[in-house]
Amino acid sequence: MEQRAKVFVTRRIPAAGIDKIRQACNADIWPDPLPPPREELLRRVAGCHGIVTLLTDRVDAELMDAAGPQLKVISNFAVGYNNIDVAEATRRGIRVGNTPGVLTEATADMAFALLIAAARRLGEAQQYVRDGKWKTWEPEGHIGMDLVGKTLGVVGMGRIGYALARRCHFGWQMRVLYFDRVRNEEAEKQLGAERVEWERLLGESDFISVHADLNESTRGMFNADAFRKMKPTAVFVNTARGPLHVQQDLYEALKNRQIFAAGLDVTDPEPLPPDDPLLELPNVIVVPHIASATVSSRNGMAEIAADNLLLGLAGKPLRCPVN
Ligand code: GLV
Repeated sequence: MEQRAKVFVTRRIPAAGIDKIRQACNADIWPDPLPPPREELLRRVAGCHGIVTLLTDRVDAELMDAAGPQLKVISNFAVGYNNIDVAEATRRGIRVGNTPGVLTEATADMAFALLIAAARRLGEAQQYVRDGKWKTWEPEGHIGMDLVGKTLGVVGMGRIGYALARRCHFGWQMRVLYFDRVRNEEAEKQLGAERVEWERLLGESDFISVHADLNESTRGMFNADAFRKMKPTAVFVNTARGPLHVQQDLYEALKNRQIFAAGLDVTDPEPLPPDDPLLELPNVIVVPHIASATVSSRNGMAEIAADNLLLGLAGKPLRCPVN
């Protein structure tokens, strides 16, 4: 009988993916809702030919050593892969895959939801009702920011940045500025987007939404200096990775009203401890890294992650390769 490949899946993922993996492999699936502790992760990957990882699993040389030289593929259940040392995997001939595309619209929806929630102060308004403070209709209470005709600044005009810009441009007639290493001609042509220098994006945008990869050149790009250059009426949105902003600097900027508000799907650290000072501020709305949490996105991610795994095990190019 043919030997089935040994794989470790670090969390339960939707049936659309896990069923395929179970059928084809000798699969060990971590059953807990919380990630496997590091020691357990290192133990479980030993002898594996493939691993399905999440963004909460650090995949480095130590883990690859723990798996052993037969490891062929690391399939990340995420579009971002900053949790993986891709250079190290490449050096060892290990294929790495991710799950782009299927979560673009859901993530852009979340960025827009946070943008409007922060601009219109929905977090604090809901708290006001829950706290029993709603006594009457207030002519000058709960005043937020308008959206129509404002300027959106997109940092990282890839698939998700474009999808957000499309919503804001066609739905809210916003002017679109963007900052990126590379030009996005489609955004320029379809949305009239303008590629600008960093300082200009910061100074002219009413809403700034970040959609960049996390790497050494983008880490901490939203720091005290950046927040100082933003408008006092500006809203900052991060649905990409927490360490793209310096959280202490964001806290100060929000507290001192250097910027108007922020909407965060990602924080640094994650999870954000419930006693984090950021949560004491009224002008920030925080949700727990849920931008891709829709039925079609998560099913699509599971399918791609399974396909990447099985193709990598077969020594074939991945459906969505990273290296
Ligand atoms: C989620 O953050 C992802 O990268 O897919």
